[in-house]
Amino acid sequence: MTMNDAELHEEPALSVAAAFTREHHQIDDGIEAFLADTAEHDPARRARPLLTAMEALRRHIYLEEEVVFPRLAPGPLMMPLMVMRREHGELWERMDALAEILEDDSSAASGIADACTELLSLLEDHNRKEEPIIYPHLDTDLTPEEQSLVRELLAGETLPEDWTCQALR
Ligand SMILES: [Fe+2]
Ligand SMILES: [Fe+2]
Repeated sequence: MTMNDAELHEEPALSVAAAFTREHHQIDDGIEAFLADTAEHDPARRARPLLTAMEALRRHIYLEEEVVFPRLAPGPLMMPLMVMRREHGELWERMDALAEILEDDSSAASGIADACTELLSLLEDHNRKEEPIIYPHLDTDLTPEEQSLVRELLAGETLPEDWTCQALR
């Protein structure tokens, strides 16, 4: 392959691992933006970045559990994947609790900030294992066809109604 060929065939899109990692950061940023925005007095408007982040996190977990994890070579990842699924369950429950606080009385600052901080620290703990242990396999275990499928889903898929993570079924 000549240099030109290599350039022509260079994949412009992010690797699947990089795309999932980027989504981790976007979700964190949304929760942090909510925490930082103390100037917005309209509760619904203030909650928007948090609701967007939680929607993204639920869909992120859905894509991991339904599309990505089942396509990874199971052997050495069996235990780590079990841990990931269990932690998805904890994250999911925290999000349910947070959504309830927001619905109850979105003007009550009490409780929401603490719940967000807890969610952020759970996420940090989850992502610092998932990114180095699981994500490298996204680029090596998935076929190129599977990788394009996952990229397409990341770009446009929505969470099916009533879907819950595996740990809570
Ligand atoms: Fe993830
Ligand atoms: Fe995860």
